[in-house]
Amino acid sequence: MVKEQLRPIITLNVNGREYELPVGEGVNEISPSETLVHTLRDRLGLTGAKLGCGQGVCGCCTVIMEGKAIASCVTLTLDCEGARITTIEGLADTATGELNNLQQAFVDKCGFQCGYCTSGIIMAAQALLDENPFPAEAEVREALAGNYCRCGTHYTAVDAVMTCVEKNREV
Ligand code: FES
Ligand code: FES
Repeated sequence: MVKEQLRPIITLNVNGREYELPVGEGVNEISPSETLVHTLRDRLGLTGAKLGCGQGVCGCCTVIMEGKAIASCVTLTLDCEGARITTIEGLADTATGELNNLQQAFVDKCGFQCGYCTSGIIMAAQALLDENPFPAEAEVREALAGNYCRCGTHYTAVDAVMTCVEKNREV
């Protein structure tokens, strides 16, 4: 008699919520080659992280994992077991939907045009601000150096982040 095998499962902690997902080669299973951006978008419905280059170059897919900004297009989902992941959907107040200070600064400063790159830029900036709430502009530019915007919003994006830094000083 064939002994029934336990189905392998991966647990992801995204935006404070735990997801248990089956691992394998089936349609609804996480294969060893699946990347985090696909899992977030296609399985969890968190479409804020965008797929651009798919090669870790453009920054559109940036999320925060264990406090660091990472390119989710070159991160294997199976390597994320138990890690704390934050996506753009996790920044606003979960009860009220109110944007956090950084998101609001992007709105106030028009830090985007088409918006395709914006969630990645915000997540890269958020990782910096979580580590250092008062970075100098040069540090912001360096933190955003891996994020490309085809609409050319780099200057307004930096402006938005610095506006948030000023707000942090007032608190
Ligand atoms: S889509 Fe991930 S870095 Fe471009
Ligand atoms: S706002 Fe369009 S790509 Fe950046």
